[in-house]
Amino acid sequence: MNKTILVTGANGQLGLSIQRLSTQYPEFTFHFIDRDELDLCNAQSIAQFFAAQTFDIIIHCAAYTAVDQAESEPEFADQINHLAVKQLAEIAKQKNITLIHISTDYVFNGQHFTPYIESDPVDPQSVYGKTKLDGERAFQEIAPNGIIIRTSWVYSEFGNNFVKTMLRLGQERDQLGIIFDQIGSPTYAGDLAKAILDIIQSNRIEHTENNGQIYHYSNEGVCSWYDFAQQIFTQSQISCAIKPIESSEYPTAAQRPYYSLLNKAKIKQHFQLEIPYWKDSLTPCIQTLQEEKS
Ligand SMILES: NC(=O)c1ccc[n+]([C@@H]2O[C@H](COP(=O)([O-])OP(=O)(O)OC[C@H]3O[C@@H](n4cnc5c(N)ncnc54)[C@H](OP(=O)(O)O)[C@@H]3O)[C@@H](O)[C@H]2O)c1
Repeated sequence: MNKTILVTGANGQLGLSIQRLSTQYPEFTFHFIDRDELDLCNAQSIAQFFAAQTFDIIIHCAAYTAVDQAESEPEFADQINHLAVKQLAEIAKQKNITLIHISTDYVFNGQHFTPYIESDPVDPQSVYGKTKLDGERAFQEIAPNGIIIRTSWVYSEFGNNFVKTMLRLGQERDQLGIIFDQIGSPTYAGDLAKAILDIIQSNRIEHTENNGQIYHYSNEGVCSWYDFAQQIFTQSQISCAIKPIESSEYPTAAQRPYYSLLNKAKIKQHFQLEIPYWKDSLTPCIQTLQEEKS
């Protein structure tokens, strides 16, 4: 069945990853929009945008993602990550649009020692995490048809991310200090994009018992940022030395969770997904980035 899908944040990592995959889903008609067409800071512009048109599904990839900067502009982050999500949820409910909203591991405080399940208590430690949590809560309160997917450590061929930073710094420097005491799972945006489109294709969101169900998604496996950097250099044959450092040696404005592993059993079971191992997904990303460079 042909479905019309609106993708916000079209020029972000996830938005561009969905764009790249979109030709593989000919049964969907995609509309990709960026900030120029739909400014999430402007409630009136959001209302006007949806007054003029409707969609079957919204994949809401746009967000305020500058984690450290959010500490000094909490109202701006709140507008985009919370109030705009609330408004989108209201519109989705009113117009019977299925809303797929993306959230983050930063809703947790990172003090766990087993992978977080969706119902674990939340306790964000940063403005970014708090505003994303408020967005989740607004979604669940309004309860449009749809789901929330929390993800972590997203990287891709696009935008700014850890993989691209390591590839650049690894060429420029002989040695780098990388944090070893924060543990998580990287998420290749291409895998998350495919998972979202496969979920839509499965038609199983409509069968979700409660609207606003939360699901966790990252790649399989676990590593520290130090391990991640080592693997990036191994796969790209960069010989830069890496020294493990503690988080306290690399102070940032926002506090990051020490432990942010997400348990993915629920999304795998409900939507019959197979999730790639993080090292396997890193390979095509690095290959593409190296081909683009040469
Ligand atoms: N990146 C991660 O490590 C990570 C981890 C966990 C969860 N997430 C979540 O995953 C989702 C996708 O993240 P991503 O990495 O693809 O983010 P991203 O690359 O930073 O892209 C975010 C997009 O949001 C757009 N945006 C920001 N402010 C806007 C506004 N006022 N109006 C309209 N659009 C606006 C940006 O537009 P411009 O290009 O114009 O700035 C950009 O296209 C987000 O919900 C994020 O919170 C990300």
